[in-house]
Amino acid sequence: MLAYRHAFHAGNHGDVLKHLVLMQVLQHMNQKDKGWRYVDTHAGAGGYALDGSYARQKSEYVDGVGRLWNRDDLPPALADYVGLVRSLNGDTRALKQYPGSPLIAQALMRPQDQLRLFELHPTDHRILASTFEGDPSVEVRMVDGFDALKSQLPPPTRRSLVMIDPSYEGDRDYARVVTTLRDALVRFAEGTYLVWYPQVGKLGARELPRKLQTLSPKGWLHARLTLSTTDERGYGMVGSGVFVINPPFTLHAALREWLPYLAQALSQIDEPQWLLDHKAV
Ligand SMILES: C[S@@+](CC[C@H](N)C(=O)[O-])C[C@H]1O[C@@H](n2cnc3c(N)ncnc32)[C@H](O)[C@@H]1O
Repeated sequence: MLAYRHAFHAGNHGDVLKHLVLMQVLQHMNQKDKGWRYVDTHAGAGGYALDGSYARQKSEYVDGVGRLWNRDDLPPALADYVGLVRSLNGDTRALKQYPGSPLIAQALMRPQDQLRLFELHPTDHRILASTFEGDPSVEVRMVDGFDALKSQLPPPTRRSLVMIDPSYEGDRDYARVVTTLRDALVRFAEGTYLVWYPQVGKLGARELPRKLQTLSPKGWLHARLTLSTTDERGYGMVGSGVFVINPPFTLHAALREWLPYLAQALSQIDEPQWLLDHKAV
């Protein structure tokens, strides 16, 4: 039984960090003509109405993309990201729609590129499938994304980005991220893999970056933003992180340009913290 619906969280600070890094990796991959395959193991609905009943319940986007929406001092990468969201909103000043990772990848894909989108929730799968219906470059399947990744590796052109963005509803997803990546790297060691994780008190979340480092002998990048504090009972997501296995060599320098700005812009506390660490080979 899947309780998680990304519509409640669309455009929040976690999405901003994840989608910015997604854009930067795909923009880098677009510097070569050879086609790539983007695999989204947990694709969600593809796009979200911010004025819909789900998103309005918590309005998490207000402290996410909403904080960047009207800024006129954005670093170039952030201006690109806001520009992409704005184009989905008909280039108006009103922020009503937010793209999920599939629509962001679609915005950056070229005729030679392909999308493989996996989503297990029947409702979100239906929305996703109808969004991409009739596009021969895109395959949408209602399957377990952790399991289905096997069928995609290695990709025919030997160029791919895999996004692993589970809901972490139970503790099991943390372990499945690690086992799935261990297997994926045996099948295709050269691929780029992007994992998002929430910064919460759970052991699985705290240990995930270290476990992913041990899987990544050919290089990795880890970026994390801490933007709020836990509630009075010690619960809550205080920030989030992205871990990239085999990152583009330009990614670390790119993030150094805008991560401190993003931390300040999105922070709900006086002293936000950001971390940027990497191993290059
Ligand atoms: C965090 S959301 C994905 C958001 C999306 N990647 C984005 O950035 O727009 C996680 C999604 O994974 C789906 N899901 C949960 N378990 C899954 C599984 N084992 N395989 C595929 N999808 C799953 C959930 O229904 C949910 O839509």
